[in-house]
Amino acid sequence: MASVNGRTIKSQQAVKRRIEHHEADIVIIGAGILGCALAVTLGRQGRSVILLEKSLKEPDRIVGELLQPGGVQALEQLGLRDCLDEIDAIQVNGYYVSYFGEPVLIDYPKEDPSSPAPLGRSFHHGRFVMKLRQAALDCPNVTVIETQATGLVTSSYTQQVLGVECVTNDLKDCYFAQLTVVADGYASKFRKTYHPHTPKARSKFWGLEMIDAKLPSPHYGHVLLSDKPPVLMYQIGTHETRVLVDIPENLTTASVKNGGVKGHLRNTILPSLPEEVQPAFEAALDKGQLRSMPNSFLPASTNKTPGLMILGDALNMRHPLTGGGMTVALNDVCFIRDLLSPERVPDLGDTALVLKQLSRFHWMRKKSSTVINILAQALYMLFAANDANLLALQRGCFRYFQMGYVDGPVGLLAGLIKQPLVLFNHFFSVAFVSIWVLFTETPLTQLILFPYRSIMVFWTACVVIFPYIFAEIRG
Ligand SMILES: Cc1cc2nc3c(=O)[nH]c(=O)nc-3n(C[C@H](O)[C@H](O)[C@H](O)COP(=O)(O)OP(=O)(O)OC[C@H]3O[C@@H](n4cnc5c(N)ncnc54)[C@H](O)[C@@H]3O)c2cc1C
Ligand SMILES: *[C@@H]1O[C@H](CO)[C@@H](O)[C@H](O)[C@H]1NC(C)=O
Repeated sequence: MASVNGRTIKSQQAVKRRIEHHEADIVIIGAGILGCALAVTLGRQGRSVILLEKSLKEPDRIVGELLQPGGVQALEQLGLRDCLDEIDAIQVNGYYVSYFGEPVLIDYPKEDPSSPAPLGRSFHHGRFVMKLRQAALDCPNVTVIETQATGLVTSSYTQQVLGVECVTNDLKDCYFAQLTVVADGYASKFRKTYHPHTPKARSKFWGLEMIDAKLPSPHYGHVLLSDKPPVLMYQIGTHETRVLVDIPENLTTASVKNGGVKGHLRNTILPSLPEEVQPAFEAALDKGQLRSMPNSFLPASTNKTPGLMILGDALNMRHPLTGGGMTVALNDVCFIRDLLSPERVPDLGDTALVLKQLSRFHWMRKKSSTVINILAQALYMLFAANDANLLALQRGCFRYFQMGYVDGPVGLLAGLIKQPLVLFNHFFSVAFVSIWVLFTETPLTQLILFPYRSIMVFWTACVVIFPYIFAEIRG
């Protein structure tokens, strides 16, 4: 009993330190997917956590709406699975991939025939975030504060990050901690100074919300491929279905002359959609409310600044075609939970030990994040193809799915298979299938050109994947 009382007094003192002195073990900037999950996880380990968020209102965004089975598993491991309840989430069994109107239905693969099928979930992003925020608010070791972070407090001698400068209701404010976590998302304000890479975006996703749309295959994520950039559709609530249309920079059918994005959606995308979806798509277009987000790529890098940790989209991004961002973020929280546990790192003020653990984190997270990052980028390159070699790879890829090689690729995409070598094998199998498809398509009279074309296709496959492999191998 005495020790229980002792513990209660200790945590009451910690609450007082957080609220009155603005002091904690950890201060996290951003109560999004990563920030909330991390705050709860560390709080449950007995750390004193301050979570800063610029707006605690329910977010209304077109991102983070489909959680892959790998992400659901990570959520389970973190004891946060119930955040998917009571948000009108839709069960996702796998993918419906259509190529010029020809569909393949792909279920998420079972681990073995007797195990239950892994499932994903799709939902309104804001509802899921509100559940995660509630979990943080319910955690006695976490204090959530609505404030805009404006800068980091650093020691001018050691460059160590000591805390966060904020503005709350027009008043300047500071929060101090042994470890400051930057989790402020895709447009991170703090990344610029501490992250060696900058995000690159070559396209945007434009989002619409369809009401009572009839999908060809309910409970599956829809990926529509053709000679246009990819289109995604998935139900996010009983009545609502998200459409995301990829529009690369300088797309002619979306130029001002052709009516801009609206013109592209109405004249090019609408007629290419499955017939049953068209009425809901047209109604959504008429209603307006088009929104867009950049599709960025940002390789991760090892954090070397004492007292700091950058995570989530602030650290690492990939094209959202495969819906992998939240899965990467939640997996990372699982790694951090183990690497920075009070057993391994009793004192987060031991910056040398924390930095050593963060360097281990950088390599440990690769197993799962590499697969998701490279797959997203490589698939996007293939499916937004604009030259003959990429188009050959695109046809080969779809043929590969049709031949029944789907469990591997979808297992990788789902975040269930965490082996980069498996991805590498499938990718080069696709390259060889593409060359074979090319051979069968080449008329006899042009057969003399085949060796050259096949080398070009193979070379293009290398050009697609190797830069992303190198981006992952860098420290
Ligand atoms: C178009 C698109 C579609 C996507 N679809 C999917 C998908 O289907 N599935 C999937 O898994 N991933 C998807 N993603 C990726 C996913 O959205 C992100 O990976 C994920 O949201 C990252 O979580 P985060 O916590 O790092 O950032 P966020 O969830 O963006 O959270 C950042 C938080 O920080 C707060 N903040 C920012 N600046 C400050 C500040 N100065 N002070 C205080 N607070 C601040 C913000 O208000 C926000 O709450 C998509 C991305 C895009 C672009
Ligand atoms: C809060 O932290 C204390 C240690 O300060 C720990 O004993 C307790 O289990 C934590 N509470 C919860 C609900 O995680």
